[in-house]
Amino acid sequence: MQNISFYQQAFVGYLNDFTQEKEPQSLYGPINYILQLGGKRLRPVLTLMTADIFNGAYKQALNAALSVEVFHNFSLVHDDIMDAAPLRRGKDTVHEKWDVNTGILSGDAMLIMAYQLFENYESAVFQELAKLFSKTALQVCEGQQYDVDFESRDDVSIPEYLKMIEYKTAVLVAAAMEMGAIVAKASNEDKANIYEFGKNLGIAFQLQDDYLDAFGNPETFGKQVGGDIIENKKTYLYLKALEFSGAEEKKQLLNLFSLKPSDQTHKIQTVKDIFVSSGASLATKEIIEVYTNKAFAVLERLQISEAKKQLLKSFGQQLMNRNV
Ligand code: IPE
Ligand code: IPE
Ligand code: MG
Ligand code: MG
Ligand code: MG
Repeated sequence: MQNISFYQQAFVGYLNDFTQEKEPQSLYGPINYILQLGGKRLRPVLTLMTADIFNGAYKQALNAALSVEVFHNFSLVHDDIMDAAPLRRGKDTVHEKWDVNTGILSGDAMLIMAYQLFENYESAVFQELAKLFSKTALQVCEGQQYDVDFESRDDVSIPEYLKMIEYKTAVLVAAAMEMGAIVAKASNEDKANIYEFGKNLGIAFQLQDDYLDAFGNPETFGKQVGGDIIENKKTYLYLKALEFSGAEEKKQLLNLFSLKPSDQTHKIQTVKDIFVSSGASLATKEIIEVYTNKAFAVLERLQISEAKKQLLKSFGQQLMNRNV
């Protein structure tokens, strides 16, 4: 067992070896660009760490970890097109730097590369990884579609929102961990429990992502602050603000989220003020803690040492308090 930065470094080293200059440059250039743009490398670190936790060797999990990160980066390239996002990790998004068609095809190629990486495993492990991956990738598509559908709806409920973020984000965090467990040949019970841990952590993670989208520091956040407000995203912040507001503010919110006004700055400021004054931002912080604690409760069911549980806990704490 190692600390988090050890796994991060091991992963980045492996990723660097994987990244090759290939023709056509117009296909592989954007792929290398997004993969080398940095990012927290949260999912692959979880894969490697989980393999070690279940007494496998993290090195055996490097291809699975890479697969998860390549898939994640594919989903970001397409997500940025769908969200009309100009910035990713502090730099131009792929469709801004190149164009939308480049983003579509480079993204497609990355999805295929992600699958291809499983070919490095013997057939029983390959099959188990591919099966989990296919299920997860389809759920991510479903979650992404709900996210887009909700933009133009004004009757989204909290349970619908929670399902949406479970699908678009949490299942991949869960699968990243289960893949580490699969490579380590953990028991079915441990695999199911670590998946459940990752899922709850992933829900907390997306709630924090929504929070930072509104309240992150533009100097360090790396994405366009207020992007979700511009796109009329039905986040927990928004849904709780609607629930907590009086008639007047509720009307104002509904109205602001039915248009894409030319003065975005004013819309963003007004909405953020309501998020704070209504108590929605506080409620979001609270539910982030609720889901983080749900994840920690699952740890109790795992047959692993206290030290390993502590490592997973400190990872969860860091995610809950992150700024980027
Ligand atoms: C961004 O994921 C997309 C979400 C699911 C919120 P990350 O916040 O993990 O992005 P990087 O990889 O660290 O840039
Ligand atoms: C991302 O959700 C989910 C996927 C990429 C599948 P967001 O749209 O909130 O992610 P960011 O904020 O752009 O990173
Ligand atoms: Mg987005
Ligand atoms: Mg999105
Ligand atoms: Mg976001």
